[in-house]
Amino acid sequence: MRRHILVCITLVLAGLTVLLISPTIRPALSKNSKAGETRVSPHRAMAFAPLSLGDDNDDESIIQRGFEIAPVHLDLRGKNRALVGIGSYIINTGGCNDCHTNPPYVDGGDPFQGQPEQINVPCYLSGGMNFGIAVSRNLTPDSHGLPAGLTLDKFIHTLRTGEDPEEPGELLQVMPWPVFGKKTTRDLTAMYEYLRSIPHRPTCTGP
Ligand code: HEC
Repeated sequence: MRRHILVCITLVLAGLTVLLISPTIRPALSKNSKAGETRVSPHRAMAFAPLSLGDDNDDESIIQRGFEIAPVHLDLRGKNRALVGIGSYIINTGGCNDCHTNPPYVDGGDPFQGQPEQINVPCYLSGGMNFGIAVSRNLTPDSHGLPAGLTLDKFIHTLRTGEDPEEPGELLQVMPWPVFGKKTTRDLTAMYEYLRSIPHRPTCTGP
């Protein structure tokens, strides 16, 4: 009788022990448990840790990069070099060439065809691309040195409001002014200063 009671107690204790430790060993034993669930995955770590700014994000690096990627010769006489560099960075990473150079790349230099990129330098930013409802404008400096024939104030006003400088009261319809117009006055001024330093080109009629 005593032995039976002892066996019973032992069994109950063993059962309890298994119940207690099972949550700890279950994930390890289960085939479906994701390995390393308790470790922080690299993706999780990315989501929660702040990224560092990097060492190429100050104005001087942006200016340098701007000069590296300018596809045309720049006339810096009477220009603010820092603004030209920043402006080049914004314009040449901002898609202006895709709509304002007709066509944007020379034959055999189209990156979309897997060819080594060659921007259409002779037509660079001289407009003339037909979008049906509008034709892109010539952004190069006119005979007075004004980009697209616009003063700085007019240029900033155009990008901020979308008001067509050639048809006052009308809004530009293709030009993405609602996004470009959100830039700081410093950045819009830099874009203007860069456009002031590129060579004048007559509008290209395309291929
Ligand atoms: C999606 C194509 C597209 C892109 C990208 C684009 N533009 Fe335009 N832009 C146009 C077209 C088309 C017009 C002519 C009017 C219109 O949109 O109705 C125009 C007009 C302008 C005008 C008005 C000029 C004038 O005197 O009438 C300026 C200034 C201008 N663009 C500057 C820029 C700059 C700077 C960039 C790059 C930051 C840029 N655009 C990017 C298509 C584009």
